[in-house]
Amino acid sequence: MPHQHHHGAIEGRHSRTYNRLARLFAKAQYRRIAADIAAAAPDGAAVLDVGTGPGLLLRNLAELRPDLRLAGVDLSADMIAHAERNLADLPAAPDLRAADVAALPFDDAAFDLVVTTYSSHHWSDPAAGAAEITRALRPGGRLLNYDFPRAPFEAFNTLTTPRRTPFRSPWTLFMKTTRLEAAKP
Ligand SMILES: C[S@@+](CC[C@H](N)C(=O)[O-])C[C@H]1O[C@@H](n2cnc3c(N)ncnc32)[C@H](O)[C@@H]1O
Repeated sequence: MPHQHHHGAIEGRHSRTYNRLARLFAKAQYRRIAADIAAAAPDGAAVLDVGTGPGLLLRNLAELRPDLRLAGVDLSADMIAHAERNLADLPAAPDLRAADVAALPFDDAAFDLVVTTYSSHHWSDPAAGAAEITRALRPGGRLLNYDFPRAPFEAFNTLTTPRRTPFRSPWTLFMKTTRLEAAKP
């Protein structure tokens, strides 16, 4: 099958390997991040996961917080196909779309919370991604970005009260994670 290649997207056999490894080794990590997000999400919130990959964070969020309305995007259609399979048995299927963070297929102010894990360092235009996330957030809505310390966190400085802190998680020993929280004015 011919593949369309996108800068930063994890596609084809790489998406299969990522899906397999994530399912095997990342359970505790996704659970920890999902618990942190669950504590921040208002009742019945609309939540978007950007660069959702195999969708395992969404799965943990759905299990912890069945009240949330979940959506996910990924630049890679192959990753979205893995996410669809991984989430097929959930009672409420998340809204999954193949799309670039720089062109989100959602209305203005559609989300109360946008989250993203280990994805922002892949984006070809982090400033455009941050602008799109801002557009898709409702006023007062929040962004939570968990990524490696050298990820382009400064792209989110256009949001108010950006706060960057080290994030303690099962991976901390071998891989540091930074958590950025910010709000839309
Ligand atoms: C390292 S994976 C992380 C996946 C998932 N969030 C997780 O924690 O397992 C990075 C993901 O970001 C996606 N990605 C890269 N550039 C993107 C972009 N511009 N817009 C949306 N997704 C993107 C990749 O296809 C890949 O699935």
